[in-house]
Amino acid sequence: MSTPRPTFLSGIQPSGRPHLGNYFGAIRQHVDSLNEPGDHFFFIADYHALTTIRDAASLRTNVRDIAATYFALGMDPARASFFRQSDVPEVTEISWLLATCTGMGLLERAHSYKDKIANGIKPSVGLFTYPVLMAADILAYDSTVVPVGKDQVQHVEMTQDMATHFNTRFGEVFVRPEARLPVRDDMAKVPGLDGQKMSKSYGNDVWLFESGKPLKKAIGRISTDSREPSEPKNPDELVLVDFLKLFLGDEELQDWRARILAGGESAPGYGHLKVRLAEAMDEHFAAPRAKYEELMGDPAELDRMLLKGAEKARERAVKVLDRARMACGLR
Ligand code: TRP
Repeated sequence: MSTPRPTFLSGIQPSGRPHLGNYFGAIRQHVDSLNEPGDHFFFIADYHALTTIRDAASLRTNVRDIAATYFALGMDPARASFFRQSDVPEVTEISWLLATCTGMGLLERAHSYKDKIANGIKPSVGLFTYPVLMAADILAYDSTVVPVGKDQVQHVEMTQDMATHFNTRFGEVFVRPEARLPVRDDMAKVPGLDGQKMSKSYGNDVWLFESGKPLKKAIGRISTDSREPSEPKNPDELVLVDFLKLFLGDEELQDWRARILAGGESAPGYGHLKVRLAEAMDEHFAAPRAKYEELMGDPAELDRMLLKGAEKARERAVKVLDRARMACGLR
């Protein structure tokens, strides 16, 4: 079974306010994909979030926050269905159908599961079957292209396996998807304030809509060293330069790099570069930040937007589920 037109789909975990790493590693890729011909489905993975978030109020806030962030950054409801995973309950039924065709061994090999266990998380059955629900998310819409980060590639491969197992047993029901990684890997790798990968769990992240004083303060934490401004330095070794790359135009960036490399009187100090970075980042997100704030102030409108997105998604999922029910003999 093949769809003539590509279908793009990806899911986003509602794990708090998105940081710069989330933006350059995922959000931007998702929004940019709307320019490609095809159908577009993006959802907030709230069912998945229940494997880690145990507090109803935080889940609600996080979902709203992600929705406002995506809409503000260009997730256009006219071109994409952007919705809450739980507004398409068909997904949970598909997930059950897949579970009955999936070996324990396949799930036991999941890196993300093994990592979480290694980090001391006591696993629930839900955490263990997380990849089955994710496969259902993908297969429910006949998705062909799944834009994800490297860490999710194994999950997409597991989805292919589950689709194949089901299809082998019951006939061609599910379309096999392909993962798509971000094109510009250099941009996708956003360092944290300390130079490690940016991650909420390392506490080295910056909220992408941070501005004013708190932004200056966050940027002030970017690690530097005690060398004098006049000392010539390799710009490629500076975390600060990695950040500047994200926001400055080529010409300005090259100018700073040359001055850092040359040292001497016209070389900028770290403080100076930090001021420039704060300014550039503040400006980069100014318009979406305003839109974000407007949406956060109108939860009813946000809800309407999400429900509208779910309608189209659900239409598709109902068809796929019907096909699966027929194939396996439930109907
Ligand atoms: N597991 C993904 C993550 O943690 C989120 C997700 C859930 C997803 N379902 C999906 C991503 C389906 C792509 C497709 O980022």
